[in-house]
Amino acid sequence: MSEFDARLSTALYHIAILGTVAYFVAVYVFGFRKEKLEAFICYLLSGWVHRKFFHREKAILFQQMQDIKQKSKTELAILEIGVGSGMNFRFYPEGTRVTCLDPNPHHEAYLRKNLQKCDKNVKVVGFIQSFAENISAVESDTFDAVVCTLTLCTVRDPAKVLSEVRRVLKPGGTFFFLEHVAAQKGSFIRRVQNILQYMWPHLASGCNINRETWSFLDQSEFSQVQYRHYSANTWLFFYLRPSMYGTAVK
Ligand SMILES: C[S@@+](CC[C@H](N)C(=O)[O-])C[C@H]1O[C@@H](n2cnc3c(N)ncnc32)[C@H](O)[C@@H]1O
Repeated sequence: MSEFDARLSTALYHIAILGTVAYFVAVYVFGFRKEKLEAFICYLLSGWVHRKFFHREKAILFQQMQDIKQKSKTELAILEIGVGSGMNFRFYPEGTRVTCLDPNPHHEAYLRKNLQKCDKNVKVVGFIQSFAENISAVESDTFDAVVCTLTLCTVRDPAKVLSEVRRVLKPGGTFFFLEHVAAQKGSFIRRVQNILQYMWPHLASGCNINRETWSFLDQSEFSQVQYRHYSANTWLFFYLRPSMYGTAVK
C-alpha cells in the first residue's frame, strides 16, 4: 500500500469511528428513535442520491420492465422488497400495482409522498412490514416481477432472500436488482472496503460494504441470471463505486 493509500484509509477509518459515535449518541443518549430516524434520513437524502448516482443505471434496468409490460395484457403485479422511500416508482410502467415490503414501517408515509410526486399511474396496493428472508405473508407464484435495489447489501441472509423472491414470482416472472458490491479482491478499493466494514454496518443500517452479491445470484435456482458490473459515478464515496444490476428469471 502506498503512503497516500495508507493515509486515506486511516482518514476514512477515523471518519467512520466519529460517525458511529455521533449516531450512537443521537440514538441512545438523545433518544432519537432509530427506525424513524433512518426512514427520515432515507427520505431526505434519497432523491439527491438517486439523481446523482443511480438514475442512469436504474433507467436502463427498468426499461426491460417496460418491455415486459408491453407484452402483458394485464396490469403488472410487482413486489418491491426493501422499498425504502419508494425511489423506484418513477421507473415503473403505467398501470402497475406495487406491493411494498420493508421491515421499517416508518417508510410507508414517505413512500406515499414520493408516489404522489412521481405523477404516474402506479398504485401501491399494500405495505408488508417484514424482512425479505421470510415473506410468508405472500403466497407462492404471485408476482410478475420482484424488485430489490440497494438492499441485498443489508439483508442478513441473501441466499434465503433470493429463494423467497423466486418462490413468490410467477413461473417466468423476473427479478430486477441493482446493488453496490465488493470491489475486486486485492484492489485498493477492496482493501478500503474491508477496513470500513468494521464500522459501516453500524453507520449505515446494517449495510455490508464488501458483499460479493453476485455469488449468491450465481448459486441461486433462477433459470436465467444476467448482470452487469459497473462503476458508479462518485468520487467522494469511491468505496461504493463497484456496483451491479441485472435480472433473473424464475
Ligand atoms: C438503502 S435502502 C434502499 C431503499 C430503496 N430500495 C432504494 O433503492 O432507494 C435499504 C432498505 O432495505 C430495508 N431492509 C433492511 N433489511 C431488510 C431485510 N432483511 N429485508 C427487506 N428489507 C430490508 C431497509 O429498511 C431500507 O428501507
